[in-house]
Amino acid sequence: MAAAISRRGAALSLALARRGMCSASAPRAAAPALSSEELIRMEQDCSAHNYHPIPMVFSKGEGSHILDPEGNKYIDFLSAYSAVNQGHCHPKVLRALIEQAERLTLSSRAFYNDKFPVFAEYLTSMFGYDMMLPMNTGAEGVETAIKLARKWGYEKKNIPKNEALIVSCCGCFHGRTLGVISMSCDNDATRGFGPLVPGHLKVDFGDINGLEKIFKEHGDRICGFLFEPIQGEAGVVLPPDGYLKSVRDLCSRHNILMIDDEIQTGIARTGKMLACDWEDVRPDMVILGKALGAGVVPVSAVLADKDIMLCIKPGEHGRNVHILSSSFRHHTEGCTPFPAVRN
Ligand SMILES: Cc1ncc(COP(=O)(O)O)c(C=O)c1O
Repeated sequence: MAAAISRRGAALSLALARRGMCSASAPRAAAPALSSEELIRMEQDCSAHNYHPIPMVFSKGEGSHILDPEGNKYIDFLSAYSAVNQGHCHPKVLRALIEQAERLTLSSRAFYNDKFPVFAEYLTSMFGYDMMLPMNTGAEGVETAIKLARKWGYEKKNIPKNEALIVSCCGCFHGRTLGVISMSCDNDATRGFGPLVPGHLKVDFGDINGLEKIFKEHGDRICGFLFEPIQGEAGVVLPPDGYLKSVRDLCSRHNILMIDDEIQTGIARTGKMLACDWEDVRPDMVILGKALGAGVVPVSAVLADKDIMLCIKPGEHGRNVHILSSSFRHHTEGCTPFPAVRN
């Protein structure tokens, strides 16, 4: 009986899909028999038009190769914007993922679990920071870094209440949340979404003199300089040689946190673990994401030393609740298969 109902449901959803229709009551899982054209039409009909994808449908992947529903083979040069750097269906990733999924689903931040401490220790020793703070998406990692920098600014730098500033670069891309787009110079990203979050100043990427000028004028209220070591979304823009070193010197001189967004460039994307390693520079905060979840779970993390990270204390934002946390944190990071591949 149940099988008959589910067969009927599948047949109905296939028929609706073929007619390009959505139904709230019918199951809408894409049946493998749907063609690329049908799937694209179904998505156009039923999903928000917030993106403009290339008209090619991923159906199956192995390593760097992809098959579409018609069996055409492609090479995946994009790697989900570096989130699946390890390749599709990597056997070590799958093994780690399945083993963990069969043991425990989610612990929440209300309890400890037997994986998160091990992952935190692994990540902090790998990158040489005292502590890490996990989140889900890259944008949340960036939001977290900004909140942390502001808190540090008020507690350690004595910036007057609610006056902390973050400097970021023209052409930057740090994600899509409201707080993060408030740093964007891209009108398409901000038009119609105002009012934006205040407290941001802009400088041209690579312009060390411009940065020094802003630091001299507003340094007392600036808590952090947030940047991508190579601007990705802006078109893979490299800074001039020596820029990262000069940023480090300027930030140290003005007591401003150097906040390095390595969500796209980190974890060996540029041939070193961090892009900042090319100039032997140690930022005050590093944000990781994308490949940290090995393409299968969204995991981001902020790395910093204790004098920064411990500015945030439990209970400051609700009883026993971490000020910067989320329902899905504290377990998926424990089962990120990233260490499996590294090892
Ligand atoms: C440098 C950088 N920061 C942040 C993000 C946002 O990450 P997510 O899409 O996981 O929110 C991206 C995404 O492309 C990025 O390239």
